Amino acid sequence: MGSSTAQYGTAALGRYIEGGHKKVDGWLSPLDAHLTALIAMIQAEEGVAGSVGEIGVHHGRLFIALALATKAGERAFAADLFAEQAANIDRSGEGDEAAFARNMARFQVDAARVDTFRGNSMDLKWPMVEGKVGARARLFSVDGGHTEEVAANDLRLADDGLHERGVVILDDYFNVEFPAVSVALNKVMFERPGHLAAFAIGDNKLFLCRPAVAAHYRDRLNALVADRFKVHNTLMFGRELAVFRTPRGLLLRIRQSALARRLRDHPVGRWLKPLVRRILQG
Ligand SMILES: C[S@@+](CC[C@H](N)C(=O)[O-])C[C@H]1O[C@@H](n2cnc3c(N)ncnc32)[C@H](O)[C@@H]1O
Repeated sequence: MGSSTAQYGTAALGRYIEGGHKKVDGWLSPLDAHLTALIAMIQAEEGVAGSVGEIGVHHGRLFIALALATKAGERAFAADLFAEQAANIDRSGEGDEAAFARNMARFQVDAARVDTFRGNSMDLKWPMVEGKVGARARLFSVDGGHTEEVAANDLRLADDGLHERGVVILDDYFNVEFPAVSVALNKVMFERPGHLAAFAIGDNKLFLCRPAVAAHYRDRLNALVADRFKVHNTLMFGRELAVFRTPRGLLLRIRQSALARRLRDHPVGRWLKPLVRRILQG
């Protein structure tokens, strides 16, 4: 984000956020990577310790940032269908365990700190995860199945496992291509009043935590994020939260378009990718 890598606390995480993540196939904008790393840094500064992890890791683009944010003694969990793609109902992305392992090695994630859960998240319960990672989650990304049933299941899991100062990172809440994700969160908010509050919106992530700490996270992010990403504070679920956006140039708009997203997993898209990357990098 054009600033020093030192701001994220560790050099490896800094390098990954500043550019490394763009080399891993997946869905995570530089701003959303930056917001995630800032939250991890705030937690480290304030002595919040726990586990980190994600449902729906694909090739590891966001997961690697979470794993690089772990401190000594902390563990990371990675859940994905991987080889069981027959259960991938909405096909919002295909996990690939070999690519995931290669990317973790490439960015020097300590594999000994990672617990992998292969299979349908509908069969996962928080005690199974905590039994491996040994602590409640301080960062929990929900980006697996995008149907109403699966997204709601994964959000309940995140709520069950969330540290009192933990943060849930929800993908695609505002993506018109996946309206079931919005329905799923709204349903869980209604079912479990007072459990979760939204405190920030990024390019394609909604950040939630326990209501008692929501204003604190919102205010700390507002103080740390540069003006060019700040839109405004607004209300959601009855509370004030911060909205951040990447200013969108023409090339960025093309790259983030629905067509580019669809092409990415198509043979034609894979063939075009090196050429497009060369053009975008000038
Ligand atoms: C949009 S991709 C995740 C992108 C990833 N978070 C990133 O940083 O690029 C969605 C992932 O969820 C996985 N998935 C879909 N349905 C699932 C389910 N029911 N249980 C577990 N994983 C699932 C897919 O295999 C895919 O890897």
